[in-house]
Amino acid sequence: MPFESFRVRHVVRDGEPGATAGVRSGKGQPVILVHGVGMAAEIWGPQIAALSQRYDVIAYDMLGHGGSDLPPREARLSDYADQLLALMDGLGVARAHLVGHSMGALVVLEFALSHPDRILSVAALNAVYCRSQEQRSAVEARAAALEKGGHLDTIDGTIARWFGDPVPERMAAAAATTRRLLGAVDPRGYQRTYGLFATSDEAHRGRLTQLRAPSLFMTGAGDPNSTLEMSRIMAAEAPNGRCEIMSGERHMMSLTAPEEVNKRLLGFLASTSEIDAKSFRRALGAFATGVTVVATNQRDGGPRGFTANSFTSVSLDPPLVLVCIAKTASSYAVFSEADSFAISVLAENQRDTSGLFASKAADKFERASWHASGNGNPVISGAAAWFDCRKHSLVDAGDHAILIGRVTDFGDTPANPLGYCRGAYVTFGLSQAALAAARPRVGAILENEDGILLLANGDRFDLPEGISLEPDSDPNSLNGTLRRLGVSAQLGFLFAVFEDPRSGAGSVSVYYRGALKSPVPQAAGLRVIPLDQIPWAGLRDDAIRSMLRRYVHERMEDTFGVYIGDAERGTVQALAKKA
Ligand SMILES: Cc1cc2nc3c(=O)[nH]c(=O)nc-3n(C[C@H](O)[C@H](O)[C@H](O)COP(=O)(O)O)c2cc1C
Repeated sequence: MPFESFRVRHVVRDGEPGATAGVRSGKGQPVILVHGVGMAAEIWGPQIAALSQRYDVIAYDMLGHGGSDLPPREARLSDYADQLLALMDGLGVARAHLVGHSMGALVVLEFALSHPDRILSVAALNAVYCRSQEQRSAVEARAAALEKGGHLDTIDGTIARWFGDPVPERMAAAAATTRRLLGAVDPRGYQRTYGLFATSDEAHRGRLTQLRAPSLFMTGAGDPNSTLEMSRIMAAEAPNGRCEIMSGERHMMSLTAPEEVNKRLLGFLASTSEIDAKSFRRALGAFATGVTVVATNQRDGGPRGFTANSFTSVSLDPPLVLVCIAKTASSYAVFSEADSFAISVLAENQRDTSGLFASKAADKFERASWHASGNGNPVISGAAAWFDCRKHSLVDAGDHAILIGRVTDFGDTPANPLGYCRGAYVTFGLSQAALAAARPRVGAILENEDGILLLANGDRFDLPEGISLEPDSDPNSLNGTLRRLGVSAQLGFLFAVFEDPRSGAGSVSVYYRGALKSPVPQAAGLRVIPLDQIPWAGLRDDAIRSMLRRYVHERMEDTFGVYIGDAERGTVQALAKKA
């Protein structure tokens, strides 16, 4: 792969203009390689060659190394992270996989924790973490020796630590390259960076739990200073961390075992773009749906059916709907051959029916109450709605097939539909049982195009309310109140549930949102008030004011949610965006 050299200008912390030198090769997602103390971008030669086959590989010289400018005198880890940020900005790289070695691993972790939105993944090779007292004393002694005697005197010791003494034959070439780079580094850059390296092993203590991106911690089993225990601990602390240990390798494994390191790096990088099935399902589960039973007749005439929440309306003209059926469903063959089928939208009291048809039970239809549609397909009795369909098409789609039906007949009932969200059944209205148990006050925000209905009494304005929802015959219930006032309305979604401490402990108020079905009678006190003229001061209390303010806001925005909480605090759980 050909590569190009670059030099990106930026400003160092002390205000001095600086520049970063490096090379770039390949196409694909960006992978940035950050070397360790005393090295330079060229140490990554074997990784650049292998990774650039699939990725846009960028290797650069760290501050104070190779062709890059010096760090400030009192160098900080953030200076090196800032260098990386400036480089990405300068090269127009929005997000990248980061691979760091030793000091470079500290830099990429620092960057990942400070700029999580700029990374795709992090690989920390031969990284140090929370050294033991003994390890810390040794590295501090080396830093002091470096300051006193200059770095050329320390090279033999470094080679012995990184490769062994004597250097094994198979590592001789790698050791020679390393020795050459150590000899060429700017002594000031080396010293400043080494001093920082010696004291930064605690920089990420307790912070790796915030590293959400996929992360790899890999070291050599024989690396005495970046130990396998350190990598294991880091991987365990990072939520998406994984640890790999290379047996028989030491500190410079990317140079002494390049093929194995490249294979593992490529494996890790590939794994970061695979979709994690569990997370995918969890994210899909946020989409709230209804629940249906799809049913047909097999060739011998026996009914077959399964629970499906993948139901979707497709077209009004012609009238088309769809459901997706898993190829693993035992009724897949039957449905893929069926000429017609019926879809029943289950009502909120039909959870058991949903469970029954989601099972492999042989006697589903004996245990359910159903009747035949015009096309002879089973329709679940008491469903909120049903659609009788002739097969329009069957579309292959991964591990499912999309069954598209042309609706030939349909029906609906006032029953509340059953909902399904995040792997659990939900209901869109409060059940009568829950209402009875909570004994809430029940009110309604009833709207038409002109505004909402308020009951005026002098300066005081109230929403229509009752001590219960029903029955109509009870003049104290909400429905009874509306009837008494001659107001015709259709209650829709639950809008708010809150505890109001002023009305006594445990007192719950429940408000529905609904539509005024016909013009409001011209009776004393009945007023439809435009949203921008609501008499806020005349409302009963802060709980009502706060709820109505939310209503007005959401109606302007056109989003509706359910409010659950008390008069002061609460969360809004969004239900639907008005079509
Ligand atoms: C709430 C819910 C929704 C479901 N949605 C679907 C769906 O859309 N498509 C599907 O193939 N299976 C879906 N299933 C799973 C099937 O109902 C289940 O695999 C069933 O056993 C299939 O019946 P069969 O094996 O008799 O064909 C769902 C299950 C539940 C509980």
